[in-house]
Amino acid sequence: MNILIITGGSKGIGKAIAQKYNSENFTVFSISRSKTSEVNYQQITADLSNTSEAVKAIQRVFSNLETEKVTSITLLNNAGSLGEIHTVGNLDSEKIQQTIQLNTTTPLVLSNEFIKLTKKLNCKKKIINISSGAAMNPYSGWSIYCTSKSALDMTTKAIANEQSDIENGVKCIAIYPGVVDTDMQTVIRKTTESEFKNVQRFIELKENNELYAPEFVADKIFKIDISNALENGEIIDIRKF
Ligand SMILES: NC(=O)c1ccc[n+]([C@@H]2O[C@H](COP(=O)([O-])OP(=O)(O)OC[C@H]3O[C@@H](n4cnc5c(N)ncnc54)[C@H](OP(=O)(O)O)[C@@H]3O)[C@@H](O)[C@H]2O)c1
Repeated sequence: MNILIITGGSKGIGKAIAQKYNSENFTVFSISRSKTSEVNYQQITADLSNTSEAVKAIQRVFSNLETEKVTSITLLNNAGSLGEIHTVGNLDSEKIQQTIQLNTTTPLVLSNEFIKLTKKLNCKKKIINISSGAAMNPYSGWSIYCTSKSALDMTTKAIANEQSDIENGVKCIAIYPGVVDTDMQTVIRKTTESEFKNVQRFIELKENNELYAPEFVADKIFKIDISNALENGEIIDIRKF
């Protein structure tokens, strides 16, 4: 039995990934605040900007697992948000905390639980983090998002570094999915130029049909995963794969 535990499998990229793995006979568990209809995988509701809800949700997944039947298990940290888009000095301080919690703290918390809960499992174990090119580029107006994804990249490398010292440790990689046609892009296009200097470029990407479809991204991520092409700790932009 191959298991995928994904955060944010209710919409956008996460929903397409969950559907792809499900169609490839993986048993999929998705954790998000809302549920989507028309899918066959299990959906657990939790607000992942709350640590205790996140921990309870992943523990619930493991309490339903017959671990002796598992041949591979993957945690895919996908849920994320841009948070408030504006320049520093114009942000709501509480909202800064909530976005960093969702995008950075929760993947670390879930990885911690995942590594603990799979310690005795003698199967393939992997963590895949969905990061962003924003981790490398300080876009004006996206300070919270850029900071959160940059830290997620370091989480990826730090976990890989620790786990490579352990026999049958967890492999940890991160993927930048490109610019993808989801609700997140709708939010970006609605911002003003004073909030986000580069908004026009994102409007044009949509107008010129240059956004990736979530299904295309999901297929690529699945290929990257099963091809095992990436080294432990590697971070890849799907445009380069
Ligand atoms: N779209 C892009 O162009 C793009 C580019 C680079 C990176 N990414 C990354 O790709 C990932 C997915 O983005 P997307 O474009 O698919 O975004 P999206 O369409 O807005 O979907 C976000 C997903 O995260 C879940 N989520 C958000 N807040 C949550 C919370 N507090 N608790 C639990 N779940 C929560 C949502 O589920 P609920 O609303 O049901 O909770 C939803 O399933 C994110 O990490 C994003 O940073 C996206």
